[in-house]
Amino acid sequence: MRRALHLAALGQGRTSPNPMVGAVVLDAGGTLVGEGFHARAGAPHAEVGALRQAGERARGGTLVVSLEPCCHHGRTPPCTEEVIDAGIVRVVVAMTDPDPRVAGAGLSRLRAAGLEVIEGVATDEAWWLNRAFVHRVRTGRPLGILKWAMSLDGRTALPNGKSQWISGPAAREWVHRLRARCDAVIVGGGTVRADDPLLTSRGRRDPEPLRVVLSRGLDLPEQARLWDPAAAPTLVAHGPEAPAAARERLDALGVERLELTACEPHQLLEALARRGFNRVLWECGPVLAAGALSQGCVQDVAAVIAPKLLGGVPARTPLGDLGLVDLANAPFGRTLRLEPCGSDWIGQLNLQPGG
Ligand SMILES: NC(=O)c1ccc[n+]([C@@H]2O[C@H](COP(=O)([O-])OP(=O)(O)OC[C@H]3O[C@@H](n4cnc5c(N)ncnc54)[C@H](OP(=O)(O)O)[C@@H]3O)[C@@H](O)[C@H]2O)c1
Ligand SMILES: [Zn+2]
Repeated sequence: MRRALHLAALGQGRTSPNPMVGAVVLDAGGTLVGEGFHARAGAPHAEVGALRQAGERARGGTLVVSLEPCCHHGRTPPCTEEVIDAGIVRVVVAMTDPDPRVAGAGLSRLRAAGLEVIEGVATDEAWWLNRAFVHRVRTGRPLGILKWAMSLDGRTALPNGKSQWISGPAAREWVHRLRARCDAVIVGGGTVRADDPLLTSRGRRDPEPLRVVLSRGLDLPEQARLWDPAAAPTLVAHGPEAPAAARERLDALGVERLELTACEPHQLLEALARRGFNRVLWECGPVLAAGALSQGCVQDVAAVIAPKLLGGVPARTPLGDLGLVDLANAPFGRTLRLEPCGSDWIGQLNLQPGG
């Protein structure tokens, strides 16, 4: 199963709306004869790749797979039938598929066909690997990571607004890799006006994550690196109050636009879940970040901490007002993972509860 999970992780950032899945086939004598993983949505499922590699040697053998095999006709035929036809006699799975079209029915189908099914092997690792997928299926929203870069004294910009660069090259590269694991990167209009950001993974993910701007007023520059479709696709989301002239300007630039029922983080995430997005990265300023957090749109925080002091009472901090009046209600996580990255540190926190 460890091998299957390792294979599954090779699909990181490319499988949405599907989960990451890895599979291994052992022949009747226990020798590894096939392996596969789900490389991207629309590509063959992990089990099918592993079974094809094993060929006739799968007959009488065992399939070890990180997620329950599917039993419905999606973009590909159901894997349960391929497993049965291949002559597999035993299936070992780490977790059931939370997708309501499967949800245990895949395992029932295998048992009904006379196969032995062993569940619950390395379930925690498998769940952790696919928790963004599980989160989207359960909540109807992609899992959200909120990222910021700050000085040790908690500032994200100088009092004059300058913020490039707080972190060093190694941490910026770490952020590119983080983007590569996400389906979208989200900022607010203010960040576009202030920074003209590129927001790509610098080629680490193909296709690049969707760059998303959430803006109420659509007072956005005519020229911005985000408008260049050669670098990555961009979507501008806004509410019903967005001025008609500004909408027309964006349309003329050829930028994709989405009107939400309300210009709120949760509305945006529900729209992105409908596009099949499992994981998004918030790279916005403090007010939008606080809004996203308050609306349950953030499950993880990634803070790049630079060994610098910026000072300034009016200088920006990572988070706007969360409306807290009691420390007991402050969002928290049980374990802060701190690791060095070049001259900086990276702190990662999984917020309780739910994950
Ligand atoms: N150090 C870091 O990690 C980091 C990261 C990101 C940004 N920054 C800095 O932060 C500054 C930008 O700050 P900002 O606060 O203007 O950031 P922002 O990311 O642009 O967020 C605020 C903007 O989001 C839009 N928005 C849409 N719906 C909203 C909602 N429901 N609630 C709140 N906002 C909503 C509004 O855009 P419209 O005004 O267009 O309507 C609003 O002005 C820049 O100087 C940038 O350098 C630093
Ligand atoms: Zn399948």
